[in-house]
Amino acid sequence: MLSIVKGPYLQWPTQDSMTVAWETSCEASSKVQYFETERVHSGLSGKFRTLEPSERVVEDPAPRCIHQVALTGLAPGTTYHYQISSTDSRGEVARSEVHPLKTSVKTDDPFCFAVTSETGGNGKDEINRRLFAQIRRHRPDFLLMAGDAVARGSVYEDWSRHFFAPGRDLLTDTPFYLCLGNHEENSPWFYRFVAYPEPKNYYSFDYGNAHFVALDSTAFVDYREGRPCPTEALQPGSPQYEFLVRDLKACQATWKIVFFHYPPYVSGDYQVEEMRALGPVLEEYGVDLVFNSHTIVYERSHPLRAGRLDPESGVIYVVAGGAGARPEWFHPKRAWHTAQALAVPHFVQVVVAGPTLELRAIDDEGRLFDILRLTR
Ligand SMILES: [Fe+2]
Repeated sequence: MLSIVKGPYLQWPTQDSMTVAWETSCEASSKVQYFETERVHSGLSGKFRTLEPSERVVEDPAPRCIHQVALTGLAPGTTYHYQISSTDSRGEVARSEVHPLKTSVKTDDPFCFAVTSETGGNGKDEINRRLFAQIRRHRPDFLLMAGDAVARGSVYEDWSRHFFAPGRDLLTDTPFYLCLGNHEENSPWFYRFVAYPEPKNYYSFDYGNAHFVALDSTAFVDYREGRPCPTEALQPGSPQYEFLVRDLKACQATWKIVFFHYPPYVSGDYQVEEMRALGPVLEEYGVDLVFNSHTIVYERSHPLRAGRLDPESGVIYVVAGGAGARPEWFHPKRAWHTAQALAVPHFVQVVVAGPTLELRAIDDEGRLFDILRLTR
């Protein structure tokens, strides 16, 4: 029987497009219907009404299991509703509910995003479900995943178990950007499920007045006999290193945010000091925030430059080891670079409004436990 086994989920929003993705249990066609809507109130409840004749359809008859359909010609910062369906060779149809999607906002408009990670690293699916539900309550425009979304990326079932199933409701209306953690195992499944530009394991995008860069730190550092060792990719001249330099050099955005898995700074085990080799590049081009995970805790650094405190122009590193909470991974006392640290399941919410940025760390019960305001 034909069924939808992943999604629908959203990928790669721009001001005028969105990619809708899903997976079916067997090969079938791809169809997305979408329409503009207006909110109407009847009594105490709010509903959406389709604006006629705004309905549009994109379809592809080619049979496949993993579907990615780009909707184009959309308006910026606008909410649409969409529904996907697939038809197999026997004429059986699988159809989703109707879900909202929102295109990227205009350059100067405020927006909000969430950051989490480690939904696979700690393997506790109850935490994952609670955390994804809590993120959805805060209605971010998109989600950054700082790696280890799954326990074993090369195991197909893991992608559903740890990520797509517990995150289903959130992912239907919130695009996600995942960077590779060691638990993704650089698996072909990652490359098949996401719709990022090639080579997919590192990329950058603009959202509002911010620029985001996702890096593949598992290519920068190898683990040999349990010890992290820098690879040639961490040297100037490697494709990923040169991409980072070129990308940041060309960036004119107000805010520059970089995310990758291995944390250069954390007062616990699993700190990967080798990643500090990127520090000079991040500092030279004025990166504001770096998000990492790998250590299953929350930790925000003081502003750092050249390995020292620099309150004026330092880079702030935030370990958002989201879905886990491993206090025993902390050292007994905080490190010199630690501004705030707590081991609880959490996510980070960031609200960007022109020259101000507010970062909030929120636990899986919705409690605020850290806040940071920056102004540019
Ligand atoms: Fe990790």
